[in-house]
Amino acid sequence: MSEGNDGRKYSLETFLIHGNPIDAAWEYSHHVIPPLTASTTFRLDSTGRGAEGFRNFAAVPGSPESERPIYIYDRLGEPTVGLLESSFMQLEGGGSATAFASGMAAISGVLLALCRQGDEIVAHRTIYGCTYSLMINWLPRLGVNVKFTDCRQPAQVETLITPRTRVLYLETPANPTLEVVDLAEMAAIVARANAGRSEEDRVRLVVDNTFATPYCQRPLAHGADIVVHSLTKNVMGFGTDMGGMVVGPKELHAAIRLVRKDFGGVVAPRAAWNILVYGLSSLAVRMDRQMDTARKVAAWLENNPHVACVYYPGLKSHPQHELARRQMVDFKGRFAPGLMIYFELGGPAQGLAERSAKFMDHLANKAYTVTLAVSLGQAKTLVEAPALMTHSVYGDKASTAGLSISSMRLAIGLEDADDILSDLDAAMKAIA
Ligand SMILES: Cc1ncc(COP(=O)(O)O)c(C=O)c1O
Repeated sequence: MSEGNDGRKYSLETFLIHGNPIDAAWEYSHHVIPPLTASTTFRLDSTGRGAEGFRNFAAVPGSPESERPIYIYDRLGEPTVGLLESSFMQLEGGGSATAFASGMAAISGVLLALCRQGDEIVAHRTIYGCTYSLMINWLPRLGVNVKFTDCRQPAQVETLITPRTRVLYLETPANPTLEVVDLAEMAAIVARANAGRSEEDRVRLVVDNTFATPYCQRPLAHGADIVVHSLTKNVMGFGTDMGGMVVGPKELHAAIRLVRKDFGGVVAPRAAWNILVYGLSSLAVRMDRQMDTARKVAAWLENNPHVACVYYPGLKSHPQHELARRQMVDFKGRFAPGLMIYFELGGPAQGLAERSAKFMDHLANKAYTVTLAVSLGQAKTLVEAPALMTHSVYGDKASTAGLSISSMRLAIGLEDADDILSDLDAAMKAIA
């Protein structure tokens, strides 16, 4: 629910269209479309006011220090980016939101803010390939080590948490296998681990909500501490701009803002504006349409003799279907299983990789509606081979992450569902 000028309540679907036209530092209510500013620096009224701005730029929203905010320099804060952040605070229900240049900038920013040398992270074994790469290639250089586990097995997670653990990290649904993790169960583990810990030593549950978007799932409501997003995907919706977002509690606001200021992963105002004006305002209608098509395509794949397995949280056969029904709901409480589908071709193991490549290549060369490309959440339906592409960094560990060499990830677009099915059918026939 969001509140209008006269205190009346409006749905979050309406909020996606109208946003917050007023914030503490600026007033935009005269514009029908929010203004896009293009000034990397801002004029300061006096030395004292400039100094105050620097002192308080990362002040917790709502605190006395945040009462006289000013804009100083783009990397510290910027009006268009500020509008996007205030929308996300409301959509995810957090006390603070900070936008970044990309999903990876947001994820690395939040992990840098939370971890120091000697700390540990426990992470779900199946996560986006570059997040996995960050955890195995870069964080260990800073003395932060990551233990991977299957978060669908809570008992396993609990045994891995030590006094040095600062983060429990997961994606749900997971990229690319669409495994669904029980957020309330993970939050309960974190709460038990935090009993008696100081604020500094707390474990935080960090959830990548990119696949679901706030429209389909709000992890903070299930007990997560922090939500991260790649806005480049479903939220932007048209594949034209990159962005990332961190939404969390007020007490982490300053740390996350300081990381962004000093590591510099700021989103460009133009990208923030596109995400706000085109992405957010069309999110609900796009997701509804894409989910309708995803349901049809997943059911069709499930009944296709060439397909060995299909994972889509909306299918009754999905191992965590009942959990997904509880956890993935839109603003009106309707089941909202998203637009991503994972599947593998069947048949004899010998030659499976070649048959899968032939299937993908047929789509790449002959299909009109299904494009071979990484990324997701665009008007166009995209297909890719995670084990060979987005998750290739897993290498010989792919099977421990539940990934087969013949894995395929389908990101449903806005085309006519029958046209997508017809292209998939032609590719299936080509490998028969
Ligand atoms: C689940 C998930 N998280 C994070 C990212 C990284 O986002 P970006 O490409 O915006 O850095 C991706 C990219 O595909 C993703 O799928």
